[in-house]
Amino acid sequence: MGPRAGSSGKEFPVPEVRRAERRAVGPGRVNLIGDHTDYNQGLALPMAIGLGVTVRFTPSTDGRVSVTSTALGPGPELPLDLPAERAAVGRIEPAWARLTGAMVAVSRPVGGGAVQIDATLPIGAGLSSSAALAVALAEVFGVGGDPEAVAALCQRAEHLAGVPVGALDPLICAGGRRGHALLIDFSTMATRQTPMPEEAEVVVVDSGQQRTLRTSAYAARRAECEAAAAVIGPLGRADTADLARLSGPVLRARARHVVTECLRVRSCAEALATGDLAGAGALMTESHQSLSGDFAVSTPVVDSLAEDLASRPGVLGARMTGAGFGGCVVALCRPGAVDPASLPTPAWRVRPADGTVARRG
Ligand code: GLA
Repeated sequence: MGPRAGSSGKEFPVPEVRRAERRAVGPGRVNLIGDHTDYNQGLALPMAIGLGVTVRFTPSTDGRVSVTSTALGPGPELPLDLPAERAAVGRIEPAWARLTGAMVAVSRPVGGGAVQIDATLPIGAGLSSSAALAVALAEVFGVGGDPEAVAALCQRAEHLAGVPVGALDPLICAGGRRGHALLIDFSTMATRQTPMPEEAEVVVVDSGQQRTLRTSAYAARRAECEAAAAVIGPLGRADTADLARLSGPVLRARARHVVTECLRVRSCAEALATGDLAGAGALMTESHQSLSGDFAVSTPVVDSLAEDLASRPGVLGARMTGAGFGGCVVALCRPGAVDPASLPTPAWRVRPADGTVARRG
C-alpha cells in the first residue's frame, strides 16, 4: 500500500503490517486421560498434537469478514459488529461457519478481511478440530493474553455457536507445549506441564464413526452430572464415599466415572513422571472401561477398536479420547509397536506439540 494524504495534505506512510496476511496454526489435541471431567471441576491430561487447523487472514477495507474453508467450500460474509448472542450466531449459514462468526463476535477484530481455513486434522473425529479453529482465529484476530484467557474466549464462542463444551480443548490447544502433556485441574484452572517420556509413543486411531457434540448425548451427560452435583457437590471434588448419597443407579454410575477418572488422571500423571509407562497404560485402559460402562459414551465400534489395540504386544493401554460417541482411540505404546499405516482406518503417530501461545514469536 502506498502513502495516504493526511488532513494537512501532507503524505504519511500507512504501516504495511496492518495489511499483511496473518497466519496461525491451531493444533488439535488428544486427551491421554480424563474425559468428561472438565465441566465437573475435575482433572485431565491432554496434549496438543502436530495435526491442526491453519487460518490465513488477509485484511481488507470492506468492514466484513468473509470465510472460506478449503474442505467445506465458501462460507458467509460476517459483519464486524455481529452481536455476541446465540440467536445472531445461530442464524449464520452454513452451520460450520458459526464458530468463526462467534469468534468475530467475541474477539472484535479491528478490521475486516478474508479468512481461509485449511485443516490437516480430521473434522468430527474427536481431535478437537473446533477448538483448533477457534484458537487459530483468536491469534489472527489479535487476541493476546495467556492460554487461560484465550481458552475462556474460545469457550464462550463455542457456547454462542450452540455447543456446551468445557475448557479442556481450547486450553490445551492454546497452552500445549512441545514434549509435554498438560495436567489441568478445572476446579482452580491450575495447570502443570508434564514431560512425556521419550520412549512413550502415542498412536491415535480413527474409529471411522463420525460424531458431533451438537447431536451426541453430550448435553444429556452434562445434565446428569449437574443433577448428581446438586446432591454431592462438584463431582471432580467428590470422593467415592459420597457416591452412596446418590439414589438412582444412573446418576451414581455417571458420578462414579467422574470421581474415579480424576483419581486415574492424578495417578497417570505420576506414572508418566516416573517413567512407569506400563502403569500409565493400565490406567488408560481402565479409563476406557469406565467411560464405556459407567458413563456410557462409547460405541461397540470404539470398544472393539480399543480392545484390539490394547491386546497388541507393546501396547500398554488404549482408550477412547474426547467426548466419545465415535471418534478416535488413543494408545500408549512402546516404540514401533503399532504401525499406523498398517491399520484399516486413518491413524497417526503423534507427538506433544506447542499450542498457539507457545508458537507466538
Ligand atoms: C469434548 C468437549 C470437552 C470435554 C470432552 C470430554 O471434547 O469439548 O470440553 O468435555 O468432550 O472430556
